[in-house]
Amino acid sequence: MSKKILLLHGPNLNLLSTRQPEVYGSTTLDQVNAMAAAHVRPYKVELRCEQSNHEGALIDILHVARDWADGVVFNPGGYTHTSIALRDAISAINIPVVEVHLSNVYAREEFRHVSLVSPVCLGKISGFGWRSYILGLDALLGHLGVISAPQL
Ligand code: DQA
Repeated sequence: MSKKILLLHGPNLNLLSTRQPEVYGSTTLDQVNAMAAAHVRPYKVELRCEQSNHEGALIDILHVARDWADGVVFNPGGYTHTSIALRDAISAINIPVVEVHLSNVYAREEFRHVSLVSPVCLGKISGFGWRSYILGLDALLGHLGVISAPQL
């Protein structure tokens, strides 16, 4: 059976391309989602993309994902650094979540060095612009066994 993945974007990511393009790039969120869909097409993966600016709505989306998704690629935006509730939601849903960030959070302000969600995520990718999402998808697909190890 083909795998199902949620690509989830948190607050302010709807403004991608106009929001600090020198930090986050000039690609729109629709373009990121389209590139992600194109990337997983050969694997026959079902990809659903969602975005919310609201903490509770993101939690609701994660709860619903528990019933249909095999894994999540999640950019929690600013909630990364503040939200115990999102961290608890990730812990509660028992499906793998890969944390992604467009920017290299460690090269920025100190408050961005702290992630409340990292300890409950499968892993984290940060600093590669829109490619962070592609790398995050590959990491998740590898974990789910959709992408196998290179043949030696
Ligand atoms: C971000 C990094 C966060 O610190 C910031 O609040 C964002 C975007 C990123 O993708 O680089 O909104 O998650």
